[in-house]
Amino acid sequence: MESAISLYALSSFFSFLLLLLHQPRLLLSQQAYVNNKQLACDDTTNDNLTEGFACNGLRNSCRSYVTFRSNPPAYASLVSVSYLLNSQPYIAEMTSINNLTDVEPVASDTLIIAPVDCACTSSSPSYYQHNASYVLKSETYMLLANDTYQGLTTCQALMAQNPYDARNLTKGLNLTVPVRCACPTATQSSAGARYLLAYLVTWGDDISSIAEMFGVSEKSVLDANELTEKSTIYPFTPILVPLPKEPTKIVTAPPPASPPATPSVPAGNNSGSSKKWVFVGVGVGGGVLVIALALWFFCYYSQKRKQPRSSGLTPKKFSETSTTDDTTVPVKGSSYSGFSSGVRDAIETLTVYTYQDLQAATGFFSEENKIKGSVYRGVFKNDDAAVKVLKGDVSSEINILRQINHSNIIRLSGFCVHEGNTYLVYEYAENGSLSDWLHSKKFESYSVLSWKQRVQVAYHIADALNYLHNYTNPPYIHKNLKSSNVLLDANFRAMVANFGLARLAEHNEEGGLQMTRHVVGTQGYMAPEYIENGVITPKLDVFAFGVVMLELLSGREAAGDSKNGEEMLSAAIKRVLDGDNVRENLRAFIDASLKNDYPLDLAFSTAELAKRCVASDLNARPEMAEVFITLSKIFYSSLDWDPSDELDRSQSMSRGR
Ligand SMILES: *[C@@H]1O[C@H](CO)[C@@H](O)[C@H](O)[C@H]1NC(C)=O
Ligand SMILES: *[C@@H]1O[C@H](CO)[C@@H](O)[C@H](O)[C@H]1NC(C)=O
Ligand SMILES: *[C@@H]1O[C@H](CO)[C@@H](O)[C@H](O)[C@H]1NC(C)=O
Ligand SMILES: *[C@@H]1O[C@H](CO)[C@@H](O)[C@H](O)[C@H]1NC(C)=O
Ligand SMILES: *[C@@H]1O[C@H](CO)[C@@H](O)[C@H](O)[C@H]1NC(C)=O
Ligand SMILES: *[C@@H]1O[C@H](CO)[C@@H](O)[C@H](O)[C@H]1NC(C)=O
Repeated sequence: MESAISLYALSSFFSFLLLLLHQPRLLLSQQAYVNNKQLACDDTTNDNLTEGFACNGLRNSCRSYVTFRSNPPAYASLVSVSYLLNSQPYIAEMTSINNLTDVEPVASDTLIIAPVDCACTSSSPSYYQHNASYVLKSETYMLLANDTYQGLTTCQALMAQNPYDARNLTKGLNLTVPVRCACPTATQSSAGARYLLAYLVTWGDDISSIAEMFGVSEKSVLDANELTEKSTIYPFTPILVPLPKEPTKIVTAPPPASPPATPSVPAGNNSGSSKKWVFVGVGVGGGVLVIALALWFFCYYSQKRKQPRSSGLTPKKFSETSTTDDTTVPVKGSSYSGFSSGVRDAIETLTVYTYQDLQAATGFFSEENKIKGSVYRGVFKNDDAAVKVLKGDVSSEINILRQINHSNIIRLSGFCVHEGNTYLVYEYAENGSLSDWLHSKKFESYSVLSWKQRVQVAYHIADALNYLHNYTNPPYIHKNLKSSNVLLDANFRAMVANFGLARLAEHNEEGGLQMTRHVVGTQGYMAPEYIENGVITPKLDVFAFGVVMLELLSGREAAGDSKNGEEMLSAAIKRVLDGDNVRENLRAFIDASLKNDYPLDLAFSTAELAKRCVASDLNARPEMAEVFITLSKIFYSSLDWDPSDELDRSQSMSRGR
């Protein structure tokens, strides 16, 4: 019996080999490897393979992944890499894939995986690509492709898609950067590949080490790139790796610790020298090759026969991910035809719950599951979620949130429409709203947010607003930012919520400002031009954000306590910073519950920034991008700040007086 199977497998192998020899194109035709041709920038006769991967997949667009090696100082955090690669919409996913927080500085040369949207271009011939953009500093096309983008694009593709002559590049040009990516072909899909990841080859890599890194078969990688075992691969070129599921963090073993894969390396041959060479396919003679292939095929085949249901790829090395793949349920569009089109679109990416699901999750909307107002806590498959009940059509909020994927913006996971109400299901914020932490002195359970936590919250909100204003397409204005719309998760990550009033940041048809007669908002957070004239610009959010920063600094309410004759925070800060004795005034303004445990100079910078944000003249307010950059400096300085320094300093100051 055993031998019959072996014989069968062996004969299958030889017929496979024959097929391989006779019709290599047919079997291998996936994407041609760039083969270092990307270096020949000036060669105008260059063939098309430097311009992009052929548009030959099952689908014209797909999710894809690219790798990038962190490169301080410019590209040392997930956020900075995501902006470079235009993968900010997936920053939350990036943090989970790479097991890093978005702003955490990462060590140089850390392999980062970034999800991107890959699509066929409209040009002809058409290539797969992901569009990023880059504002030129002093790079040439070659430097931009090879050094900045590490080979994810090529100088030829940059030249083809930008109108500027290579000799005429100047600082400040906004270039289109076509990032190389591809979607699986029919052959790859049927072999179980769901994604293609563009891995950047570096010194010391070979196809088998790359395959092992991602837990896929060497053959699948060779085929994906039309390579044979004898082919040479070069650093700063992408190799496509077919993946059966979302990638997870790659842990590259430090050089001396790698032997398990190659036990035959002599012990005396230490790391240093072996890193120098560009590793090449397996440079062995044909005989060894055939035997290796035969062995591989044999194991592969017999394994496959034992597990008839497993797919062609064997993802041994993948650890379990917690990606939210199962949140999407296939739903027939027709049964929801009563919905507005926004809701119908959303069905494709969001879970559509039944009312019974929600009743079960929230204990029939029981009083004890009530969080606040019309928001309930629900438990779906052991995950907590917040369920918010809204009247009528809320498709605009659904529509905005479904397009947004940012770790500092609340994630909408699904919804339900039932008897004229819409139930939105959001990610759960364990620590509730920021306003509760700042203003609910009545609850003993709220401890005081530390200085670092406050700065981090401000930084997160700025990140979210900067993203909404500058990195979503189309851009949005939140229009209703306030501390009660900022939620905190278990780690005090801030998430901006409540997009009910959000709207597109667009000029009207005449190119003028957007105006409304219908001024709605919360006292204390509304900018003067909005209250007086209904003018809507992104500067509304800047103003409201300034007020939230002031709440974080002072612990007071935005509108002040009018019973005690307090002024609004936006007015108070002007008095504090414009008067004499700024230091004393600022100390008096800052939340007493911080008990002087904060760096006064950074508090001053934060207060200055907040004051500019709440300027009465909207043109005097900074853009959100600038606010974000300034706050990131304050944030990183705060991380370095050691409370004991301040104690020393204030003690020496008081002694000095
Ligand atoms: C390049 O040209 C060849 C032959 O003309 C064609 O088969 C191939 O698909 C093209 N590649 C791309 C990326 O368009
Ligand atoms: C993620 O990182 C944390 C600490 O940085 C570590 O404890 C944890 O094991 C890591 N998880 C994975 C899956 O690598
Ligand atoms: C990317 O840019 C190219 C031109 O540079 C364009 O043809 C293509 O449609 C763009 N793709 C997307 C998804 O915007
Ligand atoms: C490409 O970039 C790498 C890393 O910056 C560098 O070592 C290499 O020399 C560059 N290659 C070319 C051809 O400029
Ligand atoms: C170079 O750029 C300048 C300004 O952008 C433009 O006026 C000029 O025509 C360009 N020259 C060439 C050769 O492209
Ligand atoms: C550069 O152009 C892209 C698309 O054309 C645009 O999305 C981006 O905002 C521009 N960047 C700057 C800084 O102007």
